[in-house]
Amino acid sequence: MKLVLASKNQKKLVEMNDILSHLGIEVCSEAEAGVDLEVEETGSTFEENSLLKAKAVMEASGLPAIADDSGLCVDCLGGAPGVYSARYGGEGLSDEARYQILLENMRGQMTRTAKFVSVITCCFPNGDVLSARGECPGTIAYAPMGEGGFGYDPVFFVPELKKTFAQLAADEKNAISHRGKALEAFQVKLGEYLN
Ligand code: IMP
Repeated sequence: MKLVLASKNQKKLVEMNDILSHLGIEVCSEAEAGVDLEVEETGSTFEENSLLKAKAVMEASGLPAIADDSGLCVDCLGGAPGVYSARYGGEGLSDEARYQILLENMRGQMTRTAKFVSVITCCFPNGDVLSARGECPGTIAYAPMGEGGFGYDPVFFVPELKKTFAQLAADEKNAISHRGKALEAFQVKLGEYLN
């Protein structure tokens, strides 16, 4: 089965294929499906934005489309950056500039608990929708560590492993990450849906 990923994030595409390929699911990029969309994320929840993206790409491609809307919620910042994670600090910044702004905004904060959230939505051309949510708790480090991953990975610390997401191998991150958990729950729902 082929799903189009409603995202231009190449790293998300790789993570999704790593996790879903053993089920015989191939996730392809928008470009491979001949789609080039800029979907405005106007929702105020991960669920709303995930649905907006998957629905728009399904309608444009005529194929089942899968979207991940994800972000980092920091307790001492009232859940920010949350659904604004990709735009935190302004448009056009690098990942590093964004996490440096986050560290700056948390300067002096001792309570550094946070969680990553991912909501996966899959829209089918017949109108059916499947959705699943995953969360990964952690803390925000005082300084970046590690070279792997993307986004806020260098500052997202997993206390049980004593490493940031950026210090984990891809399979270690996928085993505990918000996206890994959401995709695990999604796989179960997809299996039930297809049977
Ligand atoms: P989205 O593409 O609108 O879902 O934006 C999600 C944003 O949240 C990304 O641009 C990253 O900044 C952040 N994010 C989501 N998942 C991860 C992750 O696994 N690691 C690091 N940052 C992430």
